[in-house]
Order: sequence, then C-alpha cells, then structure tokens
Amino acid sequence: MNGAQRVLVLGATSGIAQAVARVYAASGARLALVARSREHLSAVAADLAVRGAEVVLQRATDLCEIERQRTLIAEAERALGGFDVVLVAHGVLPDQQACQQDPRRAVSSWDVNFASAATLMEAAAERMVGAEDGVLGVLSSVAGDRGRADNYVYGAAKAALTTYASGLAHRLRGTGVTVVIIKPGPVGTPMIAGRNLSPRLVADVDVVGRRIHRALERGERMLYVPGKWRWIMAVIRALPIRIFERLRF
Ligand SMILES: NC(=O)c1ccc[n+]([C@@H]2O[C@H](COP(=O)([O-])OP(=O)(O)OC[C@H]3O[C@@H](n4cnc5c(N)ncnc54)[C@H](OP(=O)(O)O)[C@@H]3O)[C@@H](O)[C@H]2O)c1
Repeated sequence: MNGAQRVLVLGATSGIAQAVARVYAASGARLALVARSREHLSAVAADLAVRGAEVVLQRATDLCEIERQRTLIAEAERALGGFDVVLVAHGVLPDQQACQQDPRRAVSSWDVNFASAATLMEAAAERMVGAEDGVLGVLSSVAGDRGRADNYVYGAAKAALTTYASGLAHRLRGTGVTVVIIKPGPVGTPMIAGRNLSPRLVADVDVVGRRIHRALERGERMLYVPGKWRWIMAVIRALPIRIFERLRF
C-alpha cells in the first residue's frame, strides 16, 4: 500500500482498537472513527491526531442499528476516499449468569458481538469488492474456540462471528479483499476489568495492538494474539469431552 493508509475503525473507543489505531496514527494514516459515546470518541480522536493521524470522520452511533450501517460505511468511504483497512472492533463481555437468567440480556449481547459485527463486515465487504482491494479485520476471540461454563454466552457469539468471517473470506477469494480474523486471549482493557484473571494471563494492550497492526498489513488470515493462544486452544479443543468437563478454568 502506498501513501497514507485509509483506515475505518468501527468501535474506535475499544481499548484494543485504540492500540491498533495508535500504530496507524504514528505513520500518518487517515482515520475514520465510529463509536457509541460521543465524548469518549472525541477524546480518542484528539489523542490520535496528536500522534500523527489525520482524522477525517468521527461518528457517534450505536453499531447495532443495522438499518444505518450501509449509510455509515458509504459515508466513511467518501471521507477516506476508499478503504485500505476496515477494523470491526466493538464488543461486550456479558455477565454469564445474568444471561442464563434473563434471555434478553443474552440476545442483546449476541446483537453486539455477532449480528451487528457480521452485518457490518458484509456492508464493508460490498464496498471493498467494488474497489477490488482492502483488508477487513474483525475482532473475534479465543472464547469462540470451545464453549466453557463460565462464558459460553460470549463464546457462542464469537464462534458464530469466526464462522461468518471464515465464510465471507471464502466468498471473497479472488476479489482482492482479504479477511483477517483476530482471536485475542485476555487483554488488559476495560472489558476484563474486575474479572479476577491471573495477571500472567492478561496481555499488554499495546503489544497486542502492534501485533494486530502487523497482521492487518500482512493480510494474515487468522491471528491468535498473543501467539501462545494458538497452541493453548489447539490443546483445549482436542481434549476429550469427559476430561474437558472435569476442568474449571
Ligand atoms: N479484552 C479482551 O480480553 C478481549 C479478548 C478477546 C476478544 N476481545 C474482543 O476485542 C474487541 C475489543 O475489545 P476491548 O477489549 O477493546 O473492549 P473494550 O475496551 O471494553 O471496548 C469495547 C468497545 O465496544 C463498544 N461497543 C459496545 N457495544 C457497542 C455498540 N452497540 N455500538 C457501538 N460500540 C459499541 C464500546 O463502546 P462504549 O464504551 O460506548 O460501550 C467499547 O468502546 C471486542 O470485540 C472483544 O470482544 C477482547
């Protein structure tokens, strides 16, 4: 890619998305930023501008409003003059037990983590296929690799998102558009605050951001980040059901 990168970040106030955007900002990228909270978005945009980005669009919107998504993508495309990279980053980590008791909470988290992310990818892909170019990254999770008692509401949405993105990548083969599926392990952002995870398991957000940036630039198709999670999840997926169900982690 030549010249300033043209990057759309959906869920731009996410801790991980900000870390990726900081790397793009340092190289003088043009950024279109979309997030739900106007105030938080303004602060993030100002920070990225100080770091060297040209912020060409800021939009505060609820990304679950599916009927607005195509207009939003078209607006970002016009502001940037095309897409080199689109990153779908928004998400929630719902309380598992609360979701078991109240199905509306589970469905609402699936709207954020699966439905809105999948439909946004589809809308972005349509524009990128027209241009025969671009990298479409999506933040899934290692949690989608096998359902666990403590977070299967979240994990199910991420499994669906990974499957959707994999099918979309297959469909887009030969179009010039590359889909990058990103599966982080636990990362130190507001999402996991108060979750009582061992600090040894939690990755630094800037290290993760730099690795995701590299994967987007190289068009890596599937990224486990940090990389050790590829092997940890390979073992977890391979465990026989009876052994897996005896473990609580
Ligand atoms: N952190 C981890 O350990 C981890 C691990 C694996 C995967 N991931 C995935 O990585 C992505 C980023 O996570 P993160 O750790 O950076 O989380 P984060 O810092 O908590 O950010 C999540 C972002 O999603 C936004 N969001 C939620 N619902 C939205 C909606 N309906 N419309 C627009 N924005 C919405 C939030 O906006 P508001 O602030 O307005 O709510 C927030 O900016 C997520 O998809 C997450 O599932 C994270």
